[in-house]
Amino acid sequence: MRIPLNFEELSEADMLAESERFYHTAARRRSVRAFSNRPVDRRVIENAIRAAGSAPSGANKQPWHFAVIESPEVKAQVRHAAEQEEHEFYHRRAPQAWLDDLKVFDTDEHKPFLETAPYLIAVFLQRNTVDETGKTHKNYYMPESVGIATGMLISALHFSGLATLTHTPSPMKFLSEICQRPANEKAYMLIVAGYPEEGVTVPDITRKSLSEIMSCF
Ligand SMILES: Cc1cc2nc3c(=O)[nH]c(=O)nc-3n(C[C@H](O)[C@H](O)[C@H](O)COP(=O)(O)O)c2cc1C
Repeated sequence: MRIPLNFEELSEADMLAESERFYHTAARRRSVRAFSNRPVDRRVIENAIRAAGSAPSGANKQPWHFAVIESPEVKAQVRHAAEQEEHEFYHRRAPQAWLDDLKVFDTDEHKPFLETAPYLIAVFLQRNTVDETGKTHKNYYMPESVGIATGMLISALHFSGLATLTHTPSPMKFLSEICQRPANEKAYMLIVAGYPEEGVTVPDITRKSLSEIMSCF
């Protein structure tokens, strides 16, 4: 069955204005590593996940799951497990070059924001799809699909007025256990969302210019 495309055409002027508006808002997004414990309406998180769930995916398999963590007890478990892995990373696993690249961000194994932020969203990648009868079906382009969905999630949260951190405690297997996810799912990323801590600062980093990231033929 086919249905009409729900397409809204803009005038050329509106198209340019919208693209500029989107660019300027997107460019203000920064990763934040200190959050306020101020509550956030859960419906904002649900809408952001709905937006993420509208992402394109290989053969429309939608190979993602988003576990929303707001219970203080579960956040404490995540913090404890993440800090253990991060301690290993910073003190044993990370090569010096990686640690040197991270210096500007002032990060270490301590992650208090995992308890202060109102929401942690654990993103899972589904290696395959299991139907009601228990039969498994192949998924396609899972990392690409989940990467796009996660980008849309981060953008939706940012456009809704929230600060985020893209966090990748490595390895992240503990998230599967804490969130009780099935064996066909792999923890992909942890998105921290909430209001930034008052007066928070961020590293003074630069972004590549258009000419550095774009070529024309
Ligand atoms: C895949 C990925 C993994 C990241 N992992 C971490 C992380 O574990 N901890 C952290 O503090 N920041 C992490 N970041 C945030 C980056 O450091 C940040 O996006 C980058 O420095 C650019 O800064 P901006 O997000 O403020 O533009 C990660 C970002 C990405 C895209």
